[in-house]
Amino acid sequence: MRLKKIIILGASLLPLLSLVACSEEKNAAFSDNQQTEYVERKVNPREYSQGQRLYQLNCSSCHGKQGEGAKNWQKRDKDGKNQPPPLNGTGHTWHHSPKALALVIRNGTGKIGGNMPAWKDKLSNREIELILGWITAQWPDEIYTIWYNQHHQQN
Ligand code: HEC
Repeated sequence: MRLKKIIILGASLLPLLSLVACSEEKNAAFSDNQQTEYVERKVNPREYSQGQRLYQLNCSSCHGKQGEGAKNWQKRDKDGKNQPPPLNGTGHTWHHSPKALALVIRNGTGKIGGNMPAWKDKLSNREIELILGWITAQWPDEIYTIWYNQHHQQN
């Protein structure tokens, strides 16, 4: 009865997703009916704890200890800039490809008028990869599966 459970979960998630989704991407995630099976996550405990440590050290001061983001993150700050969004799957981070996420972390958004610092001189690509591994491990299965299927070509 696994399939039935997935369908029920998927249906109960729909209203939540439409709340958090960017309007133009709202239905894209579901267009191919891709979330038929959850993707089995292969989390290496050592990599997980390294990613977690690096995240807590460098990112949690703005994005929160569990990646919950700033309070009222959808509102701009007093200078009209975006506040640190949640990275835990409740925001729109999962709409971006792994490459786009790594680029935002490497380059920050200072040059495009935002407040996200650039990390390319402080963290190696490998460290950024480990942090992203921890971040995506916080996402609910449904969200992780949609993101995974959109960005990892399966044969
Ligand atoms: C000084 C505060 C601050 C720190 C520290 C910080 N960020 Fe950010 N981050 C931001 C802000 C503000 C934004 C929104 C940027 C914008 O929209 O211009 C952001 C955006 C992001 C995004 C894009 C999220 C999305 O949903 O589009 C990612 C991914 C991200 N940060 C990851 C990280 C990681 C990983 C670290 C640690 C290596 C980190 N951030 C450290 C402030 C911070």
